[in-house]
Amino acid sequence: MGNKLVQISLAGAPHPEVAHSRESMGPLGPQSSASSGKTFYLETFGCQMNVHDAEKVAGTLIARGYRPVERHEEADLILYNTCSIREKAGEKVFSRLGALKKHCRKSPKVIGVLGCVAQQEGERIFERAPQVSLVCGSASYTKLPDLLDQLEAGNRRVTGLDLDTDECFETELTRRDNPFRAYLTIIEGCDQRCSFCVVPTTRGPERSRPSNKILAECRRLVDEGYTEIQLLGQIVNAWEDASPRRLRFAELLARVAEVPGLRRVRFTTSHPRYFTPEIVQAIETHPTLCDQIHLPVQSGSTRVLSRMLRGYSREEYLAKIDCIRPARRAISISTDIIVGFCGEAIEDFEQTMTLLDAVEYDQVFSFKYSPRPETAAVGFEDTIPEEEKGQRLARLQEHQRRIQLRRNQAAVGQEFEVLVESYQPRLGQSVGRTTSNRVVNFPGAPEWVGRSMQVRVTAAGPNSLVGVRADQAGSGGMTP
Ligand code: 5AD
Repeated sequence: MGNKLVQISLAGAPHPEVAHSRESMGPLGPQSSASSGKTFYLETFGCQMNVHDAEKVAGTLIARGYRPVERHEEADLILYNTCSIREKAGEKVFSRLGALKKHCRKSPKVIGVLGCVAQQEGERIFERAPQVSLVCGSASYTKLPDLLDQLEAGNRRVTGLDLDTDECFETELTRRDNPFRAYLTIIEGCDQRCSFCVVPTTRGPERSRPSNKILAECRRLVDEGYTEIQLLGQIVNAWEDASPRRLRFAELLARVAEVPGLRRVRFTTSHPRYFTPEIVQAIETHPTLCDQIHLPVQSGSTRVLSRMLRGYSREEYLAKIDCIRPARRAISISTDIIVGFCGEAIEDFEQTMTLLDAVEYDQVFSFKYSPRPETAAVGFEDTIPEEEKGQRLARLQEHQRRIQLRRNQAAVGQEFEVLVESYQPRLGQSVGRTTSNRVVNFPGAPEWVGRSMQVRVTAAGPNSLVGVRADQAGSGGMTP
């Protein structure tokens, strides 16, 4: 989902909600309270789903008395929450594990690999990295407390690799890192079987959470002070209500948007196959639903789309875009694109280039095709040389850069509501986002984080805007 590969480590003060402790003994040593107890270091690679999984894993650990630390050197338990969407992402954890080897000889640690690489590689991880004690895929996170029991009881190798589940990772113990924006998973897994994609084998079958649980969690999050909620799912709009209410996805969006106190609701990632005009209508009628849709196209060529098993043609995709563009509220559109998929002729690639002009995306996340194990496309023979993939990617990115620059420059002089997310002391700037997910930098103050402000745009680059607070407009600007 999305495109950016995030890499975060999780540490800091425990969330008060989950900062209670539990007695235990084992290879992690004696532990009697959160402050005197074991420590963990958790590093996450990959998509927002992974980031949110990490928040739940962290909550589970903190509830057992573990304390998060910033550096792996200080941790008793080191966890890597991994991504295997492309080969490079998958290899990252092995370079981390290699680097740990020397360190662990000096001071023994318990090391675990979680997430998509764990599911994909399974027990092979123990062969490649014998220092690892825990291997657990995301579909088995409900078993984490048991697995931790086993580790604490002295077991040297424990695994959670069962994919045959109808459970979601439901926990009250989520340790959310951002004080304003909360991720909330509504559907886990994926049943789509796109020929390039490893997700169905790493995250298991689709499991939707019932609407009553989702709405109750939204209300609880608002009570806790969150003002923005991001509904997550590999295919968020494939969500089906398991409760007797049988809400449709667009109805769920509307209900979430109506939760009193919520200011912004986003959802990602939508699949074009399940994208309906009702979703656009929900956005039009509920200002809380952000004017932003991420709709991965993957390719502009119908021939390639059909080999990718995406379930739509170029024309059908463009028809979806046609129902977004006339909305009463301008909606920004972003996408994911893969270049150099097996058999992508130069004419196919040119079709992707012309699609960029036809849609005029606000943001594009683009990747070179990377063959993944156990996907249909590993059996396709007509591969494209890496160098050619690289050239196509560079052409596509340069073309899109110009489109984005043009679109962002059209925003100069306009005012937007910006939710401030951070402060950069070195530059004296606040950084926030518009409802359409554009990043805006403007002269600010540390205490503005979490506030909503009207900002007038004074300059634009391809990836961000620069502005001044509307009530201070006219006092000069900066360059992006
Ligand atoms: N190679 C390259 N990119 C991929 N993606 C998914 N699988 C692959 C792959 N095998 C991209 C898609 C998806 C995004 C999250 O990652 O564009 O939408």
